[in-house]
Amino acid sequence: MSTEKTGFSSRIGFILAAAGSAVGLGNIWRFPYLAAQYGGGIFLLVYLVLVVTFGFSLMVTEIAIGRKTGKSAIEAFGVLNKKGSWIGYLISAVPMIILPYYCVIGGWVIKYGVTYAIGQGTAAAADGYFNSFIGSTGSPLLYAAIYIILTAVVVLMGVQKGIEKVSKFMMPVLLVMTIGISIYSLTLDGAIEGVKYYLIPNFSHFSLKTVVAAMGQMFYSMSLAMGIMITYGSYMPKKENLEGSVRHIEIFDTGVAFLAGLMIIPAVFSFSGGDPSALNQGPGLMFVTLPKVFDSMPGGHIVGIVFFILVLFAALTSSISLMETVVSIFQDKLKVSRRLLCILVMIGTMLVAIPSSLGYGVWSEVLIFGKQILDFFDFLSNNIMMPIAALLTCIFVAYVVKTKVIEDEVELTSRFKSKKLYQVMIPYVCPIFLVAILISSLVGYV
Ligand code: PHE
Repeated sequence: MSTEKTGFSSRIGFILAAAGSAVGLGNIWRFPYLAAQYGGGIFLLVYLVLVVTFGFSLMVTEIAIGRKTGKSAIEAFGVLNKKGSWIGYLISAVPMIILPYYCVIGGWVIKYGVTYAIGQGTAAAADGYFNSFIGSTGSPLLYAAIYIILTAVVVLMGVQKGIEKVSKFMMPVLLVMTIGISIYSLTLDGAIEGVKYYLIPNFSHFSLKTVVAAMGQMFYSMSLAMGIMITYGSYMPKKENLEGSVRHIEIFDTGVAFLAGLMIIPAVFSFSGGDPSALNQGPGLMFVTLPKVFDSMPGGHIVGIVFFILVLFAALTSSISLMETVVSIFQDKLKVSRRLLCILVMIGTMLVAIPSSLGYGVWSEVLIFGKQILDFFDFLSNNIMMPIAALLTCIFVAYVVKTKVIEDEVELTSRFKSKKLYQVMIPYVCPIFLVAILISSLVGYV
């Protein structure tokens, strides 16, 4: 196989692949409980405003950088301006940190899917099931390895035949499954209280924290500041409408997050008799609370199978985008065949995933800054490196290369409808917000 890059064959292929990256675990377990915790309707509103302004501007920037240079993050910045090379290196480190631990969680999802498929849903609902599983040694490692192989196979098949094909299949199926479970969830006893809790704004829960939490979530959810959209942009055909595509990705990502709330919150309310604290379980929400909810509802085992398949699809399309980004970074630097790189990245991911997995079991005494290994990687990438990467991207684009370069790339195909907004966001508003996120993470505000 050559070292040449091939791109997506169609606009819809690009949109579904990028939406596939964006729609992930963050939409399904994180968004619903954040929304519930930070004021329901008011959180949704703040989130939406941030997506269409802040998220939009950053996503346009990243995709345009990729498409203009035809490179992944590691080279793209230097191509635009030599002064920016080091930013490319910094951003390139982010997907390398995220990929291994994301795959560990992906492995947990497969384990739960299998558990439901073999009719063991009731066992999964038992107290201690999750902790004893992630605390063991062989089984989570085996599932992580299976997950990594699945991801690598798709990346190996290439951008068009692998990523695009898989996304075109998985994303619509995921959407239909999410809508199906949401409707079912709304029919449960007491569900309507959950809907109210989710959608009616509760101003007493609103604070600056709401904004900071929504911003952090938006970032992660739209797969920004980790070089993914730069890589995918480099595969975007020049003739496609860039701005329009970004709008579609936003709608998909936010739509699935919203539906995930409708799927989970009413069901949890119905199960807990209206006690919202049942939602407040962090990662445990998906692996501890939901199995109990499924176990208590009619047909819950079928819902469990469908739910974990849906989560698996969401996670896979995200890890595929991460692995593709890592492969394309190495492809830019080392002129080695793509196939060999895929295999090396797969093996590397497996090795680096080991500590994150063992961190809940035999290595649980190993804490980094007081955090378990997986949590530490998650914190380092999301709360520290991504805001820094986004901040540097904004400053670089606004003050070194100038926003005009991005605007011209967008205007290659059509009028840049939100140009005015863009010109205010990147040089001024985004940097201020980003500094705010960074400081809040550092002082442990959120
Ligand atoms: N955007 C994904 C989500 O919402 C998360 C993700 C992170 C995807 C990193 C790829 C890379 O879950």
